[in-house]
Amino acid sequence: MANVTKRPYKEYTVYQIWPRSFCDSNGDGIGDLMGVYSKLDYLKDLGVDVIWFSPLYPSPNADYGYDIADYKAINPEYGTMEDFKKVLDGAHERGMKVLMDLVVNHTSNEHYWFKESLKGEDNPYHSYYHWRKGKSAKKPPNNWLSTFEGGAWEYNKDLDKYYLHVFAKGQPDLNMDNPKVREEVKSIMRFWLDMGVDGFREDVITFISKPENFPNGFPIPVACGIEHYKNGPNAHKYLKEFQKEVLDKYDCFTVGESPMMTLKNALPYITEGDDQVMSMMFHFQHHEADCFMTEWIHVPFSLKKLKKAFSTWQNALYGKAWNSLYLDNHDHARIINRYGNVNYHKESGKMLATMCYMQSGTPFIYMGQEIGMLNIELDSVDKYKDVLTFNNYHLAQKLHLSDKTFLKMCHRSSRENARTPMQWSKEKNAGFTTGEPWFYVNDNYKKINVEDSLKDPDSILNYYKEIIRLRKANPLLVYGDYKEHYKSSRSLYVYERNYEGKRALVVCSFKEKGVNFKAPKGFDLSKGKLVLCNYKDAKVTDNGFVTRPYEARVYLFD
Ligand code: NOJ
Repeated sequence: MANVTKRPYKEYTVYQIWPRSFCDSNGDGIGDLMGVYSKLDYLKDLGVDVIWFSPLYPSPNADYGYDIADYKAINPEYGTMEDFKKVLDGAHERGMKVLMDLVVNHTSNEHYWFKESLKGEDNPYHSYYHWRKGKSAKKPPNNWLSTFEGGAWEYNKDLDKYYLHVFAKGQPDLNMDNPKVREEVKSIMRFWLDMGVDGFREDVITFISKPENFPNGFPIPVACGIEHYKNGPNAHKYLKEFQKEVLDKYDCFTVGESPMMTLKNALPYITEGDDQVMSMMFHFQHHEADCFMTEWIHVPFSLKKLKKAFSTWQNALYGKAWNSLYLDNHDHARIINRYGNVNYHKESGKMLATMCYMQSGTPFIYMGQEIGMLNIELDSVDKYKDVLTFNNYHLAQKLHLSDKTFLKMCHRSSRENARTPMQWSKEKNAGFTTGEPWFYVNDNYKKINVEDSLKDPDSILNYYKEIIRLRKANPLLVYGDYKEHYKSSRSLYVYERNYEGKRALVVCSFKEKGVNFKAPKGFDLSKGKLVLCNYKDAKVTDNGFVTRPYEARVYLFD
């Protein structure tokens, strides 16, 4: 069996806060830092070890904070630097760590650097960005398209040049080939680490390097050109520079977000050793089990695809690198709607958590996931607020899709489904704010909220607590290996974990109908201890059982 190195971050459970929708303390309808402060005990009680904040920095909100106007300040909508320090200290006092979101593929177009860069080639900030002459009048330098808004090049008349933005127009890409830009990144990292933060989640970090000659991309309708920068030529080199010169000098850890990442391309970034440049990575492959190319093009959910995605990474990384384990985040529709069943809200919510967090890796839980928050069904296209939804709307219009059809697509796929205010209680606005919430509260808040979940021993929330507790109590669940059974089943996801003579067997049904399960060879269920189950009783007949809807069981064997 491969040897697994122990690291503190491997034993943590991380909780992601998308600050705008978490908790509002001052009644302006926008979540804020003092709101977070008021919930620190809640997070501690849940078992959280680390809080990851989606961007807290000043931002014109072209992409709700992922367009940063000042990397060393706090967005006044969320509070002050003093408030941040209070939250940081409050987290540390409770034994929790804090990760900041490091968004350095691009800045906001309102960042000082970009404003200066507009002054022309002689300005030292001009080369902080990718400014290029067009191919000819009105023809951008290449055919790249942005993920969020039409072409990836925006023309500036005064300069008669284009700047690159692979996301929104308000998110110009930084030119990481410029050593001064890399110095800025290091300075941002040091600023927060010196203040006491414990690491970074690094936004689209494998996109930071672009090929010098900007070749045309394969013509696809969105993000054309992405093959040239999704794993850019110098990305690893630059990240290694950040690692050696900054991160290695602090007690911290990182998780790098890497859309479109394959296992083979990921390994150089995460393999433990001298060339490792991030503690772990967020890849997206397990988010492709119900869609084609983009989450907006839905196909029927395939359990086999989901299992293949997880197993590929589990098998390849064990003993070499470390997995992140996540389901929801601020960029995806809610997981129960996608891979579970809203009619079996509790059962499937718990089953999905079991399936994911009993694997090898560090669990990441997105706010609201722990109470089983669901997608929202807004009744008009105008109610949506996100640049990605707008872009998809324009594409839908080009394809002559009706508003009704597009609205259905939003209900299923928009990432705004994950951005509705956190449901704290049955009170007005789900207890999120006393004012007018900046975005719509899901109508289901009287049934799905933290206050009731805390009181209900059978709630999804209490099940999450139990999962976190079990991981802490059993090194097997953290450091054990992974072996899949029932690989070809379209109904069951079954795997075992092994560590220092102990074993766990995890059985999850993705079906409403009963499925016959027999324990794999070498397992005697009567000798195992049932440590987790989403039903009250759990009978065994003939070393197996017929599953109940979305049943999940975890047995431990000494
Ligand atoms: C990934 C972030 O998670 C997403 O929310 C954002 O829109 C893009 N990166 C651009 O920063």
